[in-house]
Amino acid sequence: MITAKNLTKAYGDQEIITNVNFKIGGSKKIGLVGKNGCGKSTLFKVLNGIEDASAGNLEIQGEVFGYIPQEFSFPDELVGEYLEKQLDSVWDFYKIEAFASKLRFNNFDPYQKINSMSEGQKMRIKLIEALLKDPTTLFIDEPTNHLDIEGIMWFESYVKHLDKNIVMISHDRSFLNHTVDEIWEIDKKQIFRFVGDYDFYKEEKLKLINKWDQEYVLFLKKKAQLETLLENVRKIKDGKKRGSAVESVKKRIVREIEENKKEKYESKKVKDIEFKSEVHLSKLMLRFDGVSKSYGEKEIFKDLNFELRGKEKVWLYGPNGAGKSTIVKIVMGLEKPTLGNVTLGNNINIGYFSQVQSNLVSENTLLEEFIEKTGIYFGKAFGYLSKFLFDKDSVQKKIWQLSPGERARFAFAIFAYKDYDLLILDEPDNHLDIETKEVIEKSLSEFNGTLLLVSHDRYFVEMVGVDKVLNLSDGGIKSFERF
Ligand SMILES: Nc1ncnc2c1ncn2[C@@H]1O[C@H](COP(=O)(O)OP(=O)(O)OP(=O)(O)O)[C@@H](O)[C@H]1O
Ligand SMILES: [Mg+2]
Repeated sequence: MITAKNLTKAYGDQEIITNVNFKIGGSKKIGLVGKNGCGKSTLFKVLNGIEDASAGNLEIQGEVFGYIPQEFSFPDELVGEYLEKQLDSVWDFYKIEAFASKLRFNNFDPYQKINSMSEGQKMRIKLIEALLKDPTTLFIDEPTNHLDIEGIMWFESYVKHLDKNIVMISHDRSFLNHTVDEIWEIDKKQIFRFVGDYDFYKEEKLKLINKWDQEYVLFLKKKAQLETLLENVRKIKDGKKRGSAVESVKKRIVREIEENKKEKYESKKVKDIEFKSEVHLSKLMLRFDGVSKSYGEKEIFKDLNFELRGKEKVWLYGPNGAGKSTIVKIVMGLEKPTLGNVTLGNNINIGYFSQVQSNLVSENTLLEEFIEKTGIYFGKAFGYLSKFLFDKDSVQKKIWQLSPGERARFAFAIFAYKDYDLLILDEPDNHLDIETKEVIEKSLSEFNGTLLLVSHDRYFVEMVGVDKVLNLSDGGIKSFERF
């Protein structure tokens, strides 16, 4: 059992979570949600002893923890070499192989370099590493970010049948609906618990917000009443009566107003984003004629033929390693095809949003970085960034201090500064919180140009409203059918 009592965590004078209390036990599957930067990963780090709490108590009885962080890197080692370090004896190596087969790790090769593996495989290595400790509780920070759709579906059924406490952070609505018994949300520096799946949480949270709104209205009403009452009793002529009446109203003000303050619930959301494009329905935007790509001996895809026109929205779909990012790079001229021709439409603005935001300079402040990348006039940067929820204080943060989701939101703010006719988005939704995804979904569904989208989030793809799928498993383009 894990018991947290009045747990508080701050970075400098910025409190992230304040006085939270909870218990984890009884083989529960918990989904931890909340906005980007609200402190989900920080809470995991505190529970796993990677960061110290600023105040409060954490009691851990009879538990062994396994922890998979949101972003991980590996030493330059072979898989077997790396995992062996988790074993008590080399004779236990069979355990690694047993887990690999349980986790449907195809072609598991202990002599392969970890850093040459796909994201989905790396995620499985982390999972094996955690499972080798025979943990009672697993903390997994955004597992679906590393997996393709088949991987996510496999992981859903795997997790469901695991007899352990599992706490998972996720922004994937379908995944949460399929796996968890409870949703915990970090909001207003507190933790709120909802016993049900994501859809249940969403309904209950709306009710809770309505209740808070009503309480706030009542609070304002009472405050006004007591203030009027105070004015009135101050007018009592009899000095003695006046004194005691004033005292008694003041006491009520302290008790009922000051010690019982209610604040208006404000949920800040990224403002609507609009990409303007005027392309004609039939305009040729992109064509692949017999395009193949190999890296050395290794063939990634072969003889790909497709066309994108005017206002088409196409989902580029394929498992990890099928070459989605490679296609995107070929379109952008960052990679050359081994064979075939790529034709781009004339006079179109192409916007490319890359899966990794490696071009951000981590020592820059957000404001510096934004001005450097967009050339925006200093005074206007504040207003623009505030639409993406970066206020005057947070634009002074350094890039490295951002949570991954805040970093993705910032990169999208830079991207959305311009207009495009052809949008090429490589997992734009990765790391983003659900409310921000909803804003981007809306902007893409209303977009008047052409879209080529890579995403592993089924819900996101449906909400964007793609018309077609370019499926790399069969190499063809088809109309999109719902899942
Ligand atoms: N070392 C640090 N110094 C200062 N601030 C930090 C540091 N690490 C994190 N923060 C801030 O703490 C807050 C919480 O970060 P955390 O990574 O826990 O967020 P999160 O809820 O996991 O977000 P995401 O959904 O993007 O993963 C963020 O505002 C972040 O900018
Ligand atoms: Mg996080």
